[in-house]
Amino acid sequence: MVTQPGYDALADLYAEMFPDPYLTPLERHAVATFAETVRRSALRGIVLDVGCGTGGVTADLTGAGLEVVGVDPSVEMLRIARAGHPSLRFVRDDARLRSDELRTATPIAIIARFSLIHVPPSELRTVLDVWSERIPPGGTVLIACQTTDTPGEAEFDHAVAPAWRRHPDHLSSMLAESGFDEVWRMISRPDADHRFPDVHLAAHRRRS
Ligand SMILES: C[S@@+](CC[C@H](N)C(=O)[O-])C[C@H]1O[C@@H](n2cnc3c(N)ncnc32)[C@H](O)[C@@H]1O
Repeated sequence: MVTQPGYDALADLYAEMFPDPYLTPLERHAVATFAETVRRSALRGIVLDVGCGTGGVTADLTGAGLEVVGVDPSVEMLRIARAGHPSLRFVRDDARLRSDELRTATPIAIIARFSLIHVPPSELRTVLDVWSERIPPGGTVLIACQTTDTPGEAEFDHAVAPAWRRHPDHLSSMLAESGFDEVWRMISRPDADHRFPDVHLAAHRRRS
């Protein structure tokens, strides 16, 4: 399993700095749209919040009527998530979902907000292929990450752990190759709180 010593060391500071997971109304709107899309689908089952951190989004999605499991490799981020949301389920695992608790899970949807940035280019294909094997046709994914206007992907100086920015088209084609068709994308430009543009990209598992 991946370890995240940087997030372990800074978890308390992270929780203090980001009591609200959404820095903008648009981010909140993207997650609410994801929740409504999943609720409206005919699929029933669990939703995974991959890289859930301190659990704010896990709690929000639960409040929106979804059955959500928060997943994170950082022991300390999970400690804070569990303390803040004792009634919710959190599992220690990374995006490859290989823990005993999740290796046979078949989520109807996965949200990964600013967590796949920490998956190196050499491992992203494996992650998306695993998700594609597990999520049924019509299931939904929402990925949010720092992006770039330059094609491809590039490592950047994230404050906590090694991280990569990905162009929206790169992300979309990686998803397509794993069996997910893009439904929408939202790009926000840098501002006082964001050094880089962000992308939120939603896709559905292809019905073959
Ligand atoms: C910037 S935080 C985002 C937390 C949360 N998703 C949110 O939106 O508030 C990134 C989280 O991703 C987790 N993470 C890092 N590497 C990961 C991996 N390989 N798989 C899943 N999560 C990972 C970190 O431990 C951290 O909690």
